[in-house]
Amino acid sequence: MNTQKIQQFEEEIEDLFYKVNKKDFWDFHAKVVIEKSKELARKYDGDLEVVWLGAILHDIARLDGVEPHDEIGSERAYDMLVEKVFEKELAEKVGAVVFTHRCRNHQPENLEQKIIASADALSHFSAPFYLWVASVTDKEFPEFLKKYSEKLERDYNDKIFFKEERDAFKNEYAVLKNWLNYKKLR
Ligand SMILES: [Fe+2]
Repeated sequence: MNTQKIQQFEEEIEDLFYKVNKKDFWDFHAKVVIEKSKELARKYDGDLEVVWLGAILHDIARLDGVEPHDEIGSERAYDMLVEKVFEKELAEKVGAVVFTHRCRNHQPENLEQKIIASADALSHFSAPFYLWVASVTDKEFPEFLKKYSEKLERDYNDKIFFKEERDAFKNEYAVLKNWLNYKKLR
């Protein structure tokens, strides 16, 4: 694995996010996913190259906010890697990781895909993700609570593929669940 090349690539992608005023998204989400993914790849013996690049690029379509960001991002990830002279076979694997990371219409199948989907969800429990979205949302607060209580359930129940990791964050899940389901007192 060419660690130096991937490190440099990560810094280039970070720059792209910083340039479009998405520094907080990068610092408090993408960077957390990258570190968590690398940790899981080492723990579960996943392909570190695929996982690291997949984490760097999993939300690449968020750069300009296009949806569906898993499908569009998957193609962009492949193109960017080929352009930077990464091998096509590697670019395809990374594209597949981006394609399935939301666990919505496309489910992860291999270990690396499961690692990125899990790290994406786990990043919401190990960093103050919900505080950050609350600070930037344009939704009314009750509407925000409803939307993110549903997201919390999907994150915790559908996206974390490793029992040990799910168990490790059960207390954070319980607290967030209480907060997000908080109802107005009468
Ligand atoms: Fe993400």
